[in-house]
Amino acid sequence: MTGNAVAQRDGTIKLHDAQGFAGMRKAGRLAAEILDAMTDFVQPGVTTAQIDDKVREMTLAGGGIPATLGYRGYAHSCCTSINNVICHGIPNDKPLKEGDIINIDVTPIVDGWHGDTSRMYLVGDVSIKAKRLVDVTYDCLMIGIEQAKPGNFLGDIGAAIYDYASKYRYGVVRDFCGHGLGTIFHDAPEVVHAARAGTGPELRPGMFFTIEPMINIGKDGVKILDDGWTAVTRDRTLSAQFEHSIGITETGCEIFTESPAGKHRPPY
Ligand code: MF3
Ligand code: CO
Ligand code: CO
Repeated sequence: MTGNAVAQRDGTIKLHDAQGFAGMRKAGRLAAEILDAMTDFVQPGVTTAQIDDKVREMTLAGGGIPATLGYRGYAHSCCTSINNVICHGIPNDKPLKEGDIINIDVTPIVDGWHGDTSRMYLVGDVSIKAKRLVDVTYDCLMIGIEQAKPGNFLGDIGAAIYDYASKYRYGVVRDFCGHGLGTIFHDAPEVVHAARAGTGPELRPGMFFTIEPMINIGKDGVKILDDGWTAVTRDRTLSAQFEHSIGITETGCEIFTESPAGKHRPPY
């Protein structure tokens, strides 16, 4: 814990120092390496429980701890969200099948810092409409990140994402947001993905947060299943998500969770 980083959530947006950047760089790199390793592993027939085991093994081998393990009663090392699942899909013993799209979301804690990132994976041959959703969702994340610079407002990020997704008539999920993070998993601010430009706090160097747009082919409505976690599209349409953890710098932002292997956009 360094600088203004305190281990409690008090509603203020922390401004982190160089040590914070170093900590997030390390945690973010492990997170990205875990997702890099998933590209060959995700195949028809593999179960999400096997994915979860691999995430946990790689997290521990890399000197980290999965933040989700034991988080508010969640008992797994990652979230695996398939097809119409928006987020917080729980790993299980059902095998992946050809044509599925799956989001894997990992958050290793390394030396107290949280590296939170997710990507989409295509299982075998995937429909054109699913591929297009995944592509547009990746672009939504990167278009949002372009707005993440000092002097801009937090709402500029969600405005850019919303405008772009709307061109395709896709729904932008409002029930889940990006979030501040650092030594805390879910901290202030809330990063809304459908926002108005010029609204919210002004971005300043040292702010750390995630951007993690969830985009639906249909409407933005969400339903939570009886397990209390799994969020699905109310209209059962496909949903996709990408997530990066970033830090605002003097000139723009640093992406802590960028793929060292260059596996940015599927097919990888
Ligand atoms: N990694 C998710 C996020 O992006 C949070 C998962 S919390 C869990 O914020 F408990 F569902 F795993
Ligand atoms: Co997150
Ligand atoms: Co995440």
